[in-house]
Amino acid sequence: MDRRKLSAGSSDVQGKLKEPAARGHTSVAHVTDDWYIVCLSKRLRRKPLAATILGTPLVIFRGRNGEAGALLDRCPHRNIPLSLGTVQGELLECCYHGWQFDRQGECQVVPGLCDDQKLERRHVKSYRIREQDGFVWVYADADREPVREPFRFDLIGEMGYTTVREELAVESSVHAVSENALDVPHTAYLHGGLFRTSHGKRSIIEVVIRRSHDSVEAEYIGEARPAGLIGRLLAPHEGTVSHIDRFILPSITQVEYRLGEKVHLSVVTALTPVHDFSTRIFAVVNFRLPIPGWLVMPLVRPIVMRIFRQDARILKQQTDTIRHFGGEQYNSSEVDVLGPHIYRLLKQAERGQRSPSEAPYIRRTRMMI
Ligand code: FES
Ligand SMILES: [Fe+2]
Repeated sequence: MDRRKLSAGSSDVQGKLKEPAARGHTSVAHVTDDWYIVCLSKRLRRKPLAATILGTPLVIFRGRNGEAGALLDRCPHRNIPLSLGTVQGELLECCYHGWQFDRQGECQVVPGLCDDQKLERRHVKSYRIREQDGFVWVYADADREPVREPFRFDLIGEMGYTTVREELAVESSVHAVSENALDVPHTAYLHGGLFRTSHGKRSIIEVVIRRSHDSVEAEYIGEARPAGLIGRLLAPHEGTVSHIDRFILPSITQVEYRLGEKVHLSVVTALTPVHDFSTRIFAVVNFRLPIPGWLVMPLVRPIVMRIFRQDARILKQQTDTIRHFGGEQYNSSEVDVLGPHIYRLLKQAERGQRSPSEAPYIRRTRMMI
């Protein structure tokens, strides 16, 4: 029997079953001691939602008092997904026999039990949950107290800024999606004309790479305003932009452009590892322009979505190729400025090695852009 076929699409945090791509060299990392977004707050209403983090199915629900809870999505009675159930008051009710669980995962009701029959302790694993900045976050390790708080999005609701949120699913690993979101060289080719162009005048710019124990950033110095459609729409006047790309553990990417005092664009994505090669992207785009945001939105949004779709397509093709060959192959060059550092950070975090004592790393290089 073809084991590759059997295991394709499955993953297991404990490492019992792994995707073929995860054998040998793999950029997949299971970082469990951190927070991931499971959904937008506004999507969590009366109906429980199913979500998966690192291959673990969860049910997210909101009680009548508005507080959210996250449990393993498996009824301890007969293995039915609790996400098929309903919320009754503060409790989550399984759809099969009606057992009801609180946010701590304790079974509080077993229907049919007589008064003199004891309700024994029955428990579903519960996960720590936080709601902030309009998102629901879950700590991926149910067995440990959180050692940090979820990432905070800035600029949301700030004067003069327009905020756009998007949610997308990509068939790719967190490492590959992070690198793609912060990778400059592909933009002139995959998104040719939309953001940068592969023809016309190119210039050499300086790049400063700084890595700490939990983040890495690349600062591009002396970069001209990108010549593609988006650049011309957002900043009609040419000039030099200030541009920083950043990755923050476990899975945050930030792209920031400033042109003078008036133009500021920030694209932040929080990536949720659903399975090894399946990632949910929660993107928050904030921008401030000399003209009102609502005026440019109808023009900019379709272009941004086109860029996202082009990235999603290429990342799926990358995953398909990795699966076909049963493993990854990476050859990086000088201009792959962040990918190798993201890999290193993810692998260290997977081993629980995120020590602030590590000496900061700084390197300068150049890139033709
Ligand atoms: S399977 Fe959930 S109550 Fe029976
Ligand atoms: Fe891209």
